[in-house]
Amino acid sequence: MPTPAPPFAAGLLAELRAARRVMVFTGAGVSAESGIPTFRDALTGLWQTFDPMDLATPEAFGRDPDLVWGWYEWRRMRVRRAAPNPAHRAIAALAARVPGLTVVTQNVDDLHERAGSPAVIHLHGSLHQPRCSLCAYPFALPDAEPLEPEAGRRLAPPRCRQCGGAVRPGVLWFGEALPADAWRAAEAAAGGCDLLFSVGTSGVVHPAAGLPLLAARRGATIVQVNPHPTDLDRVADHSLHGPAGGLLPALLAAAWGGE
Ligand code: OAD
Repeated sequence: MPTPAPPFAAGLLAELRAARRVMVFTGAGVSAESGIPTFRDALTGLWQTFDPMDLATPEAFGRDPDLVWGWYEWRRMRVRRAAPNPAHRAIAALAARVPGLTVVTQNVDDLHERAGSPAVIHLHGSLHQPRCSLCAYPFALPDAEPLEPEAGRRLAPPRCRQCGGAVRPGVLWFGEALPADAWRAAEAAAGGCDLLFSVGTSGVVHPAAGLPLLAARRGATIVQVNPHPTDLDRVADHSLHGPAGGLLPALLAAAWGGE
């Protein structure tokens, strides 16, 4: 049975207060209340409207770089115009309560950072760090917003200042390996934490989705926050079914509000 929330189970509050090393693992759902679409939600998920094989593979970029660059610029503009929501802010505030907090995200936005979380581990890259598709030289995005964002607008990618190659989005595509340093740090955090929050992820994209399972095998308490059931319900010690922007601030207030 899912934990009714709120009020939260006394056991959950005690485990949260006692935890010394906490990992917060997030997916697209943590940014949903900022107006950023998820991938797999019925009706609103990006993969309901767009085919990832046309947009999120190295082959797609090779075939039609303007389509791919335009789509990611549309997504980057949406993120620029969005603001962190109470879930991002609660996660940042948790750092003041927990001695060792690590935030690991599958998201390519910068909303955790803008909410005040330092050193966020990005497993799937970042919309804000494009690089050359040939020589990997970083490309500095201009600060000004280029054009009114529009889904499906083709846009020629800029050229690399070093070698002239086409600049590609700094995100991970299907068929690519995760950044090794980020993955190592995420595995270490999952394997060494007392408590892991899994927030706003469907948990279907591996290897990232294996992190809560690794933490569970090592004996960590698993707390899931998601309005909908996922496979992690079978493993989680506490499944809080509701939007993260409401549940996470309420949970922190319940755990420490009286101090
Ligand atoms: P998904 O779209 O697969 O899942 C989003 C999850 O967020 C769903 O389980 C929703 O129920 C949940 N959700 C929606 N609104 C929420 C809210 N307000 N609060 C909490 N949860 C909410 O997104 P991810 O799990 O992040 O990969 O997807 C994983 C990866 O698949 C992404 O990183 C991306 C995608 O293809 C790459 O781009 C490589």
